[in-house]
Amino acid sequence: MPLPAPFQSLRLPVIAAPMFIVSTPELVIAQVRSGIVGSFPALNARPASQLDEWLHRITEETQGCGAPFAVNLIVHRTNARLEEDLKTLEKWKVPLVITSLGANADVNAAVHGWGGLVLHDVINDRFARKAVEKGADGLIAVAAGAGGHAGPQSPFALIQEIRDWFDGPLALSGSIACGRSILAAQAMGADFAYIGTPWIATPEANAVDDYKQAIVDGSAADIVYSNLFTGVHGNYLRPSIVAAGMDPDNLPEGDKSQMNFGSGGNMDAKAWKDIWGAGQGIGAIHAVEPVADRVEALLAQYQAAREDLCARTGTG
Ligand SMILES: Cc1cc2nc3c(=O)[nH]c(=O)nc-3n(C[C@H](O)[C@H](O)[C@H](O)COP(=O)(O)O)c2cc1C
Repeated sequence: MPLPAPFQSLRLPVIAAPMFIVSTPELVIAQVRSGIVGSFPALNARPASQLDEWLHRITEETQGCGAPFAVNLIVHRTNARLEEDLKTLEKWKVPLVITSLGANADVNAAVHGWGGLVLHDVINDRFARKAVEKGADGLIAVAAGAGGHAGPQSPFALIQEIRDWFDGPLALSGSIACGRSILAAQAMGADFAYIGTPWIATPEANAVDDYKQAIVDGSAADIVYSNLFTGVHGNYLRPSIVAAGMDPDNLPEGDKSQMNFGSGGNMDAKAWKDIWGAGQGIGAIHAVEPVADRVEALLAQYQAAREDLCARTGTG
């Protein structure tokens, strides 16, 4: 199936993933101006009235760029802002909406009403089928090793199962941090690489310097998978857990009943401000560098990887 219009002028098949606290207009604008999809979670604009200002600024400052931007909505019953945020997105006719933590037919219909597209993130095939049944236009397969809330499944298993029945837009997420991995995602059957953690190590990201440096210094061995901090399993930087006075190798189980992704609770700033989310791909990040430079580097690596693959397989 050909990709929908908003995706046809990207410089690289990359969607920059939304990150709680980290993604603000500065980051999104730099991503879109570099030719990839930029995104942020609506909950980062606090109070809710700030979302209108952010969308005004992003819309104005990305006008004429070939790439669209996306807003992430947490579609969980504990998100008390969902209805209000949806109205603000409608006002600005946001081209792409990324929904997480629950598929909702009414939300999808509302987005379609203003001509937008919905991509829903899933960690397994069952959730993928549910999302498409409820009207999602595309899927984001969140595999093992992804930053923030991550699934336990291999990217191969996820993409194989989803591509068996779904031929719409499909993004793959989890540890993708170099051009070769972007090409690999496409070779596996995904249309896009969905990349989060590498954008934290940029001047445009809303993160403290120690967090950015921990990503530069760390490798996959420094990532801890735990459900302690939000009630849902996710990947976090080991040094931040140690700094918070906990033993990363002996973390207790989280309490699922305390899950709250709305205007407080576990999607509250505290868990994410002190305990730093990051994916296993950090070993490929060697410096804090501007978004534009990172995109240029990814593009050069991606093109080199294509040539190398053609040479090695005797094709092209
Ligand atoms: C610090 C951090 C915060 C995140 N916050 C959100 C969020 O608010 N909403 C969401 O849908 N995904 C969130 N994610 C997950 C990303 O959207 C994406 O799935 C992930 O970063 C991809 O894996 P990677 O980091 O290995 O590239 C977050 C990830 C990180 C690292």
